[in-house]
Amino acid sequence: MMEGRTTNSTMLKIENLKTHFFTQKGRRVVKAVDGIDFSLAEGEILGLVGESGCGKTVTSLSILRLLPAAARIVSGRIILGGENLLEKSEKEMRKVRGKKVSMILQDPMVSLNPLFTIGDQIAEPLKLHKKLAGTELMDRVRSLLSAVNIPSAEIRRREYPHQMSGGMRQRIVGAIAISCEPKLIIADEATTNLDLTIQAQYLKLLKEIQERNRLSMIFITHNFGIVARMCDHVAVMYAGKIMEKAPVREIFNSPAHPYTEALLGSVPGVDYNEERLITIEGQPPDLADLPGGCSFHPRCEKATDRCRVELPPEFKLAENHHSRCWLCEK
Ligand SMILES: Nc1ncnc2c1ncn2[C@@H]1O[C@H](COP(=O)(O)OP(=O)(O)OP(=O)(O)O)[C@@H](O)[C@H]1O
Ligand code: SF4
Ligand SMILES: [Mg+2]
Repeated sequence: MMEGRTTNSTMLKIENLKTHFFTQKGRRVVKAVDGIDFSLAEGEILGLVGESGCGKTVTSLSILRLLPAAARIVSGRIILGGENLLEKSEKEMRKVRGKKVSMILQDPMVSLNPLFTIGDQIAEPLKLHKKLAGTELMDRVRSLLSAVNIPSAEIRRREYPHQMSGGMRQRIVGAIAISCEPKLIIADEATTNLDLTIQAQYLKLLKEIQERNRLSMIFITHNFGIVARMCDHVAVMYAGKIMEKAPVREIFNSPAHPYTEALLGSVPGVDYNEERLITIEGQPPDLADLPGGCSFHPRCEKATDRCRVELPPEFKLAENHHSRCWLCEK
């Protein structure tokens, strides 16, 4: 990202995005994403972090316009490569998904169909979006398998997901995600089910692919070790809002928002490699009944009377560093 950076062109720009769930016949409005702004340059990786339920997945499903029926995007713009995805028809969106933006989900078994060979599953988007067939298609499937370090591609492509290890399945999902050379990949907790060695190998591979193809990537994770290793910038989400966004080094060296500090404080020492969930005192608020003012105030040690009634805007601390906290007002 972010504003002011001129060396790379902007790949994705999200402006005032609000995605709400209307449950109980519209009587309950859950503000899952509540006015977020960020941008991502070509070839950059943005880490999206925050406690469970803060709106990370709903943000990515909003970009792909793959939301559950109860959810609606009530405002905002999602500009990808100069086009507002919110103005596209469903037919046009089908050309965006998999071709321009692909998503790597938490659990590879959710993405893979147990009834089809992995070769067929890698071939599917290539037939659909690239109109490949015959030898050309098979050559591309084999080269994708090699690109994600699956040995014996010719044999492996005839196998089914259950015949592969968890790490290999995750690689297959990676191969499908990059098959049509998308501009943006959204990886949602892509490594959760992997053991640490496989996870490290997989992250290295993702990074290689990302660098080789100058892909933009949104990396959703609870793990600050992964953020440190993978990301250029970080956006910290809380209760549907981005509380702080900054380059990775600034987030670690000089976090400005008390929520970011609390998250970093919950990570043991300076060794961010341990896989663990973010845990801080207290519970995130009910998104259908948000507290007034700053939504973090019930858990914030630094809260003042003003915080309980007035919502802080995003304050700009440096060119690419913003924080939504009254303490950052100059
Ligand atoms: N199908 C649904 N119906 C109603 N509300 C939903 C639904 N799915 C999500 N939500 C609401 O949206 C909020 C954000 O959910 P989201 O899945 O984006 O969280 P997340 O940050 O991805 O969490 P996690 O880290 O656990 O994956 C949830 O707290 C929940 O209140
Ligand atoms: S605005 Fe107030 S309550 Fe919110 S994070 Fe800053 S100090 Fe804490
Ligand atoms: Mg999620």
